[in-house]
Amino acid sequence: MIIYFSGTGNCLAISRHLADRLGDRVVSLGEAVNLDLSQEKRVGFVYPCYWFNAPNAVKELLPRLQLPRKAYTFIVVPCGAQAGNAIWWAKKVLADKGLRLDYSQKIRVPDNSAVGFGRNPNDQMWKFGKYAPRLERIIEEVKAERHCLHYAWWGPVGALCAMPAVQRSTLPMLTPAVNAEKCIGCGICANVCPQGNIVVADGKARCGEHCTQCLACVHFCPQQAVEFGRKPTPKEHQYHHPQVSLAEIMRDAGK
Ligand SMILES: Cc1cc2nc3c(=O)[nH]c(=O)nc-3n(C[C@H](O)[C@H](O)[C@H](O)COP(=O)(O)O)c2cc1C
Repeated sequence: MIIYFSGTGNCLAISRHLADRLGDRVVSLGEAVNLDLSQEKRVGFVYPCYWFNAPNAVKELLPRLQLPRKAYTFIVVPCGAQAGNAIWWAKKVLADKGLRLDYSQKIRVPDNSAVGFGRNPNDQMWKFGKYAPRLERIIEEVKAERHCLHYAWWGPVGALCAMPAVQRSTLPMLTPAVNAEKCIGCGICANVCPQGNIVVADGKARCGEHCTQCLACVHFCPQQAVEFGRKPTPKEHQYHHPQVSLAEIMRDAGK
């Protein structure tokens, strides 16, 4: 089974590709917490890196999974550049449960957070040319049940980003916000939010306090009304994996 978390489709597309080639099935992390996984022979996790670490939604849900004792376990982290502590963190969570991580690898893909720094994630489409061969290698290694961990420990940087005080002070600046002048209240942002963190009231969307920063709302808003990093969102900077549709992200978010 391949268990994924995805905001703009990179992790979903890679999970589907892995599952296709490995003859596995794909399940979202939100669904997986309600499943008994104890009989699975192989469990793979695919999730992004946010700020040198695993997304908060993954940190909340992954420890709650009922995982098998003896399965072959692997992690793939599709990220903009480096996976930070995202793999190291999960290895530790699994070890705390008495489980072993057998294989891990990162893959470089377009960085969906670039929009918050005024950069266009679509300028990084060249990364797809490199990810195909890397994914192929991962498939071969996982098929062969190789025991090989590729990960780094971004000690001080990763630990700093994960500190509650740092998160509290930076999150408001780095959390998507709705520009009420542009918002038409269509509700797409609410429908793609995996956290149920956006509500539409009186014809305008509003973000709550439980954002996990997946940026699906920023990238799928048809009015470019959801902004990140206090920067406007140009239409041409809106990104999602080319093989993943809005309908799939909505279904993924349980809508
Ligand atoms: C809030 C945020 C923080 C991010 N931080 C990092 C990071 O520290 N390192 C990195 O390489 N990529 C980073 N990224 C890029 C994502 O890991 C990457 O685009 C990922 O593939 C997105 O997956 P998805 O399309 O399945 O949502 C970040 C993205 C977001 C939204």
